[in-house]
Amino acid sequence: MTKIQTTTRPTSSLKDNRRLRAKLTEVGQPIGIFDSGIGGLTVLKEIVKKLPQYDYIYLGDSARSPYGTRSFKTVYQYTLECVQKLFKMNCQLVILACNTASAKALRNIQQMDLQRIAPNNRVLGVIRPTSEVVGKFTKTKQVGVLGTTGTVNSDSYKIEIEKFFPGIKIFQQACPMWVPLIENNEMDSPAADFFVKKNLDELFSKSGKIDTIILGCTHYPILLDKIKKFVPSNVKILVQGSIVADSLADYLIRHPEIENKCSKKGTIKFYTTDSTDSFDKVATIFWQDNIRSKHVSL
Ligand code: DGL
Repeated sequence: MTKIQTTTRPTSSLKDNRRLRAKLTEVGQPIGIFDSGIGGLTVLKEIVKKLPQYDYIYLGDSARSPYGTRSFKTVYQYTLECVQKLFKMNCQLVILACNTASAKALRNIQQMDLQRIAPNNRVLGVIRPTSEVVGKFTKTKQVGVLGTTGTVNSDSYKIEIEKFFPGIKIFQQACPMWVPLIENNEMDSPAADFFVKKNLDELFSKSGKIDTIILGCTHYPILLDKIKKFVPSNVKILVQGSIVADSLADYLIRHPEIENKCSKKGTIKFYTTDSTDSFDKVATIFWQDNIRSKHVSL
């Protein structure tokens, strides 16, 4: 029997796409930073401080924020869509600067999707780097984790920290109002004081021996001054930005095949899935410099 061999000739638009991709690869690739909203800026800021030479694209899915109270399936689907968008924007390396997405979507994306959609690309999260270092800070071996309902219910911090420091006891507290307060520019309101105090009281009622607290949501550093007001001064508050920045620097040293392709012009571009006005307003307060984002549809 004759074997019919079919060859598909690329159509002209396919050819154009390939040419465009080849061209983009030549000019190098920005590092993608993703969060459900503006929280990931707390991570980006530290990354840029540590690694200013690279180009970055920040994507906040503000139209669908907050992710923290959504189901596993929804967070996974939203995160995957955003990661794919960043891949299309020529990012080969994407950091999920969002604990909720890291808890609920990272593993699936790394183990199931990457092979299918972009085998040479990489996606990293923020929970593992934080878990790896927490043992350096606690003496009582009692650590508090503040996070969204999704992050807390996933038990991701307990599972990861247990791998590195089996002797550490974890006490978790969900703070479901903190992200909506920040995203709605209410971080300086009396309501913010009320909810920060309420959730910290709830955390410390679980153990009075907690000596280290992980801010397990990238939005929370925006409330740092308020959090400090209600936390005993002997308690260390771990903010993820610099931890993730150190971990990324180390990753890039260990992976020259990725690092070589990263473009190095020191640019940052901001994108949001919602109105640019509201993103820019809140983001500028935190960034302490004018942010002019562009709208992006997924
Ligand atoms: N910044 C995200 C995190 O680290 C916020 C989650 C949300 O959208 O609720 O978990």
